[in-house]
Amino acid sequence: MARLDGKVALVTGAGSGIGRAMAERLSSEGAAVMCADINEEGAQHTAALVSEHGGRAAAMQLDVSAEEQVKAALQRTVDELGGIDAVLNNAGIGGANGWDTTIAVNLSGVYWGLLHGAQLLAERGGGSIVNTASIAGLVGLVATQQRPSLAEPLTPGAGAYVAAKHGVVGLTRQFAITYARYGVRVNAISPGYIETPMTAGIRDVEGAQAFLESLHPLGRLGKPEEIAAAAAFLVSDDASFITGIALPVDGGYTAR
Ligand SMILES: NC(=O)c1ccc[n+]([C@@H]2O[C@H](COP(=O)([O-])OP(=O)(O)OC[C@H]3O[C@@H](n4cnc5c(N)ncnc54)[C@H](O)[C@@H]3O)[C@@H](O)[C@H]2O)c1
Repeated sequence: MARLDGKVALVTGAGSGIGRAMAERLSSEGAAVMCADINEEGAQHTAALVSEHGGRAAAMQLDVSAEEQVKAALQRTVDELGGIDAVLNNAGIGGANGWDTTIAVNLSGVYWGLLHGAQLLAERGGGSIVNTASIAGLVGLVATQQRPSLAEPLTPGAGAYVAAKHGVVGLTRQFAITYARYGVRVNAISPGYIETPMTAGIRDVEGAQAFLESLHPLGRLGKPEEIAAAAAFLVSDDASFITGIALPVDGGYTAR
């Protein structure tokens, strides 16, 4: 019997990168997955990949910054996949999108998923929520997307991203405490730099790849599958006594 047999999960931002890897990993461990993304084609592609590997998945378009859409996505997961046991609030954007948009997607988007997801899971007897935070939820960033050269100082975009991700860690702790008595565990993952489309622009700047690698004591960037593995653990009963943490999966980035 696989670790997530019989479970149903909603993954936001499932159309690319870490979210796609999460959907595939959860499915490989037995879960049925609702793949939700503002990019509907991306979500459908992920669901097709899951199906190709023998898993059960559905896809839908979702803008996590819209509260009503998040509520509807949670309900649609129950309606289409027969239940809901896990919510992975993973959708996110880079800070270059400006303060309002970055906060709306990266912080409010997670808040709506927590507010309505924790309530729904509690009403159904419990479950697990995993938020994708960042090392930027634990420490400030020393390299950002908008830096024209590695010698430039931090920019406001990085500030919005860091503020949103620190907020995600705070929300994770608060909802973990509030919903613990209802059997809902709430955790966050704090990835270091991961090789996904989100970081492609940063990595393309000359010298940036080596610089970013040097920030991670393990000497390389992470892979989406390495974040997905941590997510599957946190969703599973192997993490039954873990709630309210922001787990760094960062090659040692925050260890120094
Ligand atoms: N890649 C990294 O280095 C890294 C590091 C730490 C944290 N993260 C976080 O991991 C998460 C996933 O990032 P990724 O690297 O896979 O990026 P990505 O760009 O590959 O994937 C993000 C996905 O989110 C979707 N999305 C964007 N706005 C949305 C919205 N309003 N509603 C629904 N979906 C939306 C995009 O369409 C995309 O499919 C983000 O929260 C990001 O902040 C990434």
